[in-house]
Amino acid sequence: MSVYKIIGGRRLEGSVRVQGAKNSALPLLAASVLSEGISVFRNCPRLSDVRATVEILRHVGCRVYAEGDALYVDASGPILPEVPDELMREMRSSVIFLGALLSRCGEVTLSLPGGCELGPRPVDLHLRALRCLGAEITEAAGRICCRAGRLTGARIQLPAVSVGATENAMLAAARAEGTTVISGAAREPEIADLQAYLREAGALVSGAGSGVIRIRGVDKLRGAEHRIIPDRIAAATYLSAAAAAGGRIRLYDVLPEQLAPVLQTMRQLGCSVSAGEGIVVLERKGPLTSPGPIITRPYPGFPTDAQPPVMAACLLAEGTTVFIETIFESRFRHVPDLRRMGAEIQTDGKTAVIRGVKALRGAEVEAADLRGGAALVAAALAAEGESTVRGLRHLDRGYEELETTLGSLGAEIRRQDGGDEGEQSDG
Ligand code: EPZ
Repeated sequence: MSVYKIIGGRRLEGSVRVQGAKNSALPLLAASVLSEGISVFRNCPRLSDVRATVEILRHVGCRVYAEGDALYVDASGPILPEVPDELMREMRSSVIFLGALLSRCGEVTLSLPGGCELGPRPVDLHLRALRCLGAEITEAAGRICCRAGRLTGARIQLPAVSVGATENAMLAAARAEGTTVISGAAREPEIADLQAYLREAGALVSGAGSGVIRIRGVDKLRGAEHRIIPDRIAAATYLSAAAAAGGRIRLYDVLPEQLAPVLQTMRQLGCSVSAGEGIVVLERKGPLTSPGPIITRPYPGFPTDAQPPVMAACLLAEGTTVFIETIFESRFRHVPDLRRMGAEIQTDGKTAVIRGVKALRGAEVEAADLRGGAALVAAALAAEGESTVRGLRHLDRGYEELETTLGSLGAEIRRQDGGDEGEQSDG
């Protein structure tokens, strides 16, 4: 079982290059199936979720190889319109292959990921969008089968914001006959990154980030080169760790404009934060004070993925901090382990109330999901004494070389390797 051994109480000092965005890389790699050529993705993060996606690409017939931080995907050959259960089970966000394979092959069969650590993860919005485009969808024994021949452009009104459903609709519409307008689209930066790649590949798509995305279908897409945007959630995680443990860190290869709500919270906590071209500097010298209520919202609101690590930074903040998690049903699974470290947290449904404490103490804890694991690491860095963090398979999904990066900032963290059973991730 791989575990982290962390001795808390060390200030974090130094510079961190922010990795490429996991939540951009995964849909981009799936989108490469649409392009009958070789696509190159630069700044691709080295993560287990990326490796799981590459496995699916190879299974359906793509040739995939890496050179440095670039991943090459050759999707010029015949593409298989199905993904086996064992590959779908690896990672929830593989549902993005629904739109990609349907768009390229006119049909697709894959199993639906079940619920996960964040609660039930329905795909009704994905299926609604694909049906609008003319897909005939049957579900049996957890397998979904979509057939469409050629998809037809349509007006798609998404009744609730969904990043994945927006992405699946974009991929399915990119090669459909006619024009598609997606209203109620998610506005996350990763959607704009996907649009940028699709345009480089010859798709006629616009509006990403505005909530209304317009797409005029084309017959074919070509391979394209794309640099993946920085991971705003990884950036938020390092800022939270520095706020919790104290110190001064400088993030580079980061887009501060994508982090506005998190930077505001850090300032309200009492950190000094400065932002420039591709740079964010955070310093925490004195005591932390409650930043006031934090309510997660779809972009450009406070990101749900930053809620767990930022909660760790609030555990020592004087006063009371209320978190309201509006996106996922079950995203407080890090709370019991934070309590083991001495945190004072009460939860009730979507609300968590944190009463700041004077100190945290090291403990044996276990990650239940990716961002909850990040919260445990941030809290352990601030705690007095040694912590053991289990369940690193969750962290390896979304953070590139986390222990090396934190160690370079002065954290006392080491990884004790060993066999660790994998299981489906939350996507
Ligand atoms: C993406 O997940 C991200 N994952 C998540 O990051 C992120 O938390 C989430 O967007 C919200 O920002 C990737 O991009 C790979 P949604 P996604 O569809 O697309 C409900 C991380 O830690 N919903 O926007 O699955 C859903 O249950 C991960 O990096 C439906 O009801 O999220 C949720 O409550 C975790 N029906 C809400 O909408 C649907 O058909 C938002 O989900 C689809 C979603």
